Amino acid sequence: MRTKIIITGATSGIGLGTLKALANAQYEIILGCRNLQKTETIVQEITASNKQALIHIYHLDLASFESIRRFSDSIHRDFDSIDILFNNAGLFSDTKKETKQGFEMTVGVNYIGTYLLTMLLRDLVQKGINPQVINVCSRAALFGHISFKNGEFIKRKHGFLAYSASKYMQLLSTIYLAKRYDDMGIVFSAIHPGDVATNIWNGESFIMRTIGPLMQKNLLTLDEGIIAGIHLIENRPDVSGGFYQMHGEEIEFKKYDTNKAEVLIKKTNEVIQEHGFEF
Ligand SMILES: NC(=O)c1ccc[n+]([C@@H]2O[C@H](COP(=O)([O-])OP(=O)(O)OC[C@H]3O[C@@H](n4cnc5c(N)ncnc54)[C@H](OP(=O)(O)O)[C@@H]3O)[C@@H](O)[C@H]2O)c1
Repeated sequence: MRTKIIITGATSGIGLGTLKALANAQYEIILGCRNLQKTETIVQEITASNKQALIHIYHLDLASFESIRRFSDSIHRDFDSIDILFNNAGLFSDTKKETKQGFEMTVGVNYIGTYLLTMLLRDLVQKGINPQVINVCSRAALFGHISFKNGEFIKRKHGFLAYSASKYMQLLSTIYLAKRYDDMGIVFSAIHPGDVATNIWNGESFIMRTIGPLMQKNLLTLDEGIIAGIHLIENRPDVSGGFYQMHGEEIEFKKYDTNKAEVLIKKTNEVIQEHGFEF
């Protein structure tokens, strides 16, 4: 039986590399991507050269709660279970942008949208075989700070401050969910893929347009950048809540603070529930 895996953001970089690596008889791949035309072209190319690939395409924009809900509804309609949720989609926004619900874009997509998707799909993942949720996080999490003062959770600075905060929140939530849903049998993990030459570094600001192309030359190749994710997909950890790199080496995370994680999840649930979600 094929392993059913959802990959978000498979139109570029690590998501695309992971999709290509898994496009074989072992996997049934379900894509959640915001650009359907780009996704269809990619999938046509893959399936033309690999007849064993089984890939489904769904629209998913993590910057919109409506889109996340529609995606979740479609997946519930079409599948009885999911074995792996590979939360890869993410961005580094170096200019001021907001999600549909008014969150700063980086935090809104990398953390809030991804958290909401995970919560909506966790019942299906629980029914999977050796179920896993893998969050493509970043070592940037180790430099992240969260503030709930003056609505900063929603209206905050973009750039590295927002990126590191978004990945810190993603890491805290990975560990929180691992503890909270310990009895569900799902293994929650976060990974740092390394610093990889992908489109994430193609910013819009003057600085990123100038240093972005120079940086790319010193970064890991895509083949190297997908190793950490593929390793976990193929080797489910025995424990839930770990943070890994490359071949499953654990990254030390001293900043886990139970109190902070609980406040974060409480605040996140509050802002999500304001939009009609119940959990
Ligand atoms: N590259 C690195 O050095 C590095 C290091 C640590 C962690 N990461 C993490 O790795 C993940 C993948 O990044 P990457 O480096 O592969 O970047 P990338 O090449 O820019 O790919 C990002 C993917 O996410 C998708 N995406 C962005 N916003 C989205 C949204 N609102 N809804 C749905 N999909 C969305 C993009 O779709 P479009 O094609 O439509 O834009 C694309 O498929 C991210 O979570 C990133 O934070 C990357």
